Amino acid sequence: MNKFLTVKDVSDIDRLILQALEYKTFPFKDRTLGHGKRIGLLFFNPSMRTRLSTQIAAKNLGMDPIVLNVGQEGWALEFADHAIMNGSTVEHIRDAAPVLGQYFDILCVRTFPKLLSCEEDEGEKVMNAFLKLSGVPIVSLESTTRHPLQSLTDLITIRENFHEKRKPKIVMTWAPHIKAIPHCVANSFAEWVIAEGNADFTIAQPKGYELSEKYTRGAKVVTDQASALEGADFVYVKNWSSYEQYGKILGDHPEWMLTEKSLEKAPHAKVMHCLPLRRNVELSDEILDGHRSLLTKQAANRVCAAQSVLAHILRTIG
Ligand code: CP
Repeated sequence: MNKFLTVKDVSDIDRLILQALEYKTFPFKDRTLGHGKRIGLLFFNPSMRTRLSTQIAAKNLGMDPIVLNVGQEGWALEFADHAIMNGSTVEHIRDAAPVLGQYFDILCVRTFPKLLSCEEDEGEKVMNAFLKLSGVPIVSLESTTRHPLQSLTDLITIRENFHEKRKPKIVMTWAPHIKAIPHCVANSFAEWVIAEGNADFTIAQPKGYELSEKYTRGAKVVTDQASALEGADFVYVKNWSSYEQYGKILGDHPEWMLTEKSLEKAPHAKVMHCLPLRRNVELSDEILDGHRSLLTKQAANRVCAAQSVLAHILRTIG
């Protein structure tokens, strides 16, 4: 694997999950694998879990990660081809990316969508520029369409917490939010669950909030949360803005907040969310502080997920 931007970059999901679980038990088993290799983490947008877990994962493999908050500390970058740079941008990505490729053996990049233009966000301008111009493997720390390290983590967490000899019933349910939120986590979760092909998978959202079929083809998509949740083993809670009316909030729908009452017909359901979240808007206190919540375990698994991906890349580049 010489890049990690989508599930399509992974030839064997199962192997990546099993390797991650092994790193969870033995985090230092490959402590020299990354010796002499440098990894740069570039953040155009904020992060807590992704930033820290990727640094810990890199250190577990013997690498020395360096973080640059490009959005706050770096020069304002220009991405437009043939731009006449007489405005606010200071450096062109054509000049910056090759320099970063000289400093680092692996580059990890986080960049959020603006949610103004579907075409622009799906173009993955920032991630593709680094891919094309840096000359080194690129790892997505969340892009304008996907969050693959989060999704790998989510599959690891489901694998760890399901012990039946049948496919788990997984429901991803839309949740209310006060802001317009990107589709990345939801797109990516759907894409990974479908690619793994080992679940009875339903996506529930209010009418108008259907995700792009590009990511959800193969899932059952419904607008009735109550019936979707019946018998669920895992409930993945996430807000996203409308895709059809791109980036818009169409309605508050407070009744979609997950509570114990919502799970009356899913007595064994475990609840997941990528964090950060708005308590008592997206998810109720009773769920978050109760026996169903996998959220802390899920966030902890960000380390072994990132370690599995970085190890795979290190073995590829040698
Ligand atoms: N889940 C997640 O990506 O968290 P951060 O935004 O804190 O990195």
